[in-house]
Amino acid sequence: MESENILEAKQVSVAFRIAGKFQKAIYDIDLSLRRGEVLAIVGESGSGKSTFATAVMGLHNPNQTQITGSILLDDEEVIGKTGDSMASIRGSKVGMIFQNPLTALNPLMKIGQQIKEMLAVHDVYPENQYESRIFQLLEQVGIPNPKRVVNQFPHQLSGGMRQRVMIAIAIANDPDLIIADEPTTALDVTIQAQILDLILEVQKKKNAGVILITHDLGVVAEVADTVAVMYAGQLVEKASVEEIFQNPK
Ligand SMILES: Nc1ncnc2c1ncn2[C@@H]1O[C@H](COP(=O)(O)OP(=O)(O)OP(=O)(O)O)[C@@H](O)[C@H]1O
Ligand SMILES: [Mg+2]
Repeated sequence: MESENILEAKQVSVAFRIAGKFQKAIYDIDLSLRRGEVLAIVGESGSGKSTFATAVMGLHNPNQTQITGSILLDDEEVIGKTGDSMASIRGSKVGMIFQNPLTALNPLMKIGQQIKEMLAVHDVYPENQYESRIFQLLEQVGIPNPKRVVNQFPHQLSGGMRQRVMIAIAIANDPDLIIADEPTTALDVTIQAQILDLILEVQKKKNAGVILITHDLGVVAEVADTVAVMYAGQLVEKASVEEIFQNPK
């Protein structure tokens, strides 16, 4: 049976090695997320939002980080997993849309190839379906000319198109959890609205959970079910979006 919570984080702390010593960036984070739920994480710059998301993705460098606590993704423990075992969870259970697509996309690889690599890490789609899946994804994220775009490099696309490509990669294997770390900050307002709609459309199709990291309280009010507030590495409040806006602590 599927567990009701797609994510259950308990007492998660992350420390970075700085000048030879480990210093905690986030402390004792408890946070859970149901399937179908949209959770916004807000908090000032440096409060630890991306550090938490990166821990859920298992993307911290194990030599430079100490992570303690428990992060269950669909009942499977993520902390302590590295290499291949983490790669097989990443992408099939959880997909991430990063703040800056230019750093997340490989500048030397054509778009079609990058999506194909994501499909190839997992067995969700068989190899003979890769090509049709790539075109299906590019259409789903609203790329106007997929036949041309598969053969282009990231720098040949506009910011909005790159962000769409990143969403295509993040959802390529139908993940149960989508993490979007400020997915629209670098985009103009109309494109921002389109990208958010797109993330929610994908989310509804699969009843996926979404973690949306954002500074934009208008976006939070519009799309989130629940809001978690981080401050100085700690989670200081979690409440429904109605409670947060009516009675903020
Ligand atoms: N790789 C790293 N090595 C050392 N320290 C780091 C690393 N990544 C983050 N930090 C530190 O951890 C703290 C939390 O940073 P983080 O990037 O998670 O904040 P954030 O809430 O995502 O901020 P922003 O809103 O600016 O994106 C900061 O003090 C930051 O300097
Ligand atoms: Mg961040």
